[in-house]
Amino acid sequence: MVEIIAHRGASAVCPENTMVAFDRALQLGATGIETDVQMSSDGRLVLIHDETLNRTAGAEGWVKNAAYEHLRSLDAGYWFDEQFAGERIPSLEELLDLIRGKNTLLNLELKNGIVGYRGMEEKVVHAVREWGLEEQVIISSFNHASLVKCKRLAPEIRTALLYMEKLYRPYDYAAKLEASALHPYKWAVTREEVAAALAHGITVHPFTVNDPAEIRAMMDMGVQAIITDVPDVMAALMGTYAPTQ
Ligand code: G3P
Ligand code: MG
Repeated sequence: MVEIIAHRGASAVCPENTMVAFDRALQLGATGIETDVQMSSDGRLVLIHDETLNRTAGAEGWVKNAAYEHLRSLDAGYWFDEQFAGERIPSLEELLDLIRGKNTLLNLELKNGIVGYRGMEEKVVHAVREWGLEEQVIISSFNHASLVKCKRLAPEIRTALLYMEKLYRPYDYAAKLEASALHPYKWAVTREEVAAALAHGITVHPFTVNDPAEIRAMMDMGVQAIITDVPDVMAALMGTYAPTQ
């Protein structure tokens, strides 16, 4: 079964990277959740996509410069729709609590390409181990050096390489970095490479695929998971979810 990984939660219908978006994703048939991990000025791991606060949290400044208490005082839902006013920027621990005890994949994308959060890898690995979610978590990042660091810290936790453009034999590169999966932008995926990756023991999980025809095309290419804003659309295509009226 192809895994349905909800990109930032059910981000088509809820404010991205909030607990309501993660809950909703599971209700809509997602078998996995993708989220973006950053760090507050006092070293707490928080779930937010942008390095700055203005788009989704209605405040000035950078996540890295804000204390956790301040981040928690912000509204992460109102920008999307006023019915979501009062949603908070979640801590990583809140999401780990939601996932624990469920058969759900958790893709933690470390957003450390622009801001090099010191000590982030250690904190993420520590939390995943403390919650006992080593087998359910895939750590991904556009910062591949950070993924190598994660793998050294925690050989038991899968890592996945994020990239935008086509690479030459990306499965060879993944093997060299001891990564388990490729997370390519959807236009960087080809049928031949999906097959070759699998033959090398590397799975392929493209992002962000929302159009039903594109989802179908990716499934036809044989990918093992799809990162999507619309888990319900994908579940319906797979026949595993029928919306109730
Ligand atoms: O992890 C897949 C995808 O989320 C990467 O891009 O910018 O949406 O975090 P972005
Ligand atoms: Mg992401």
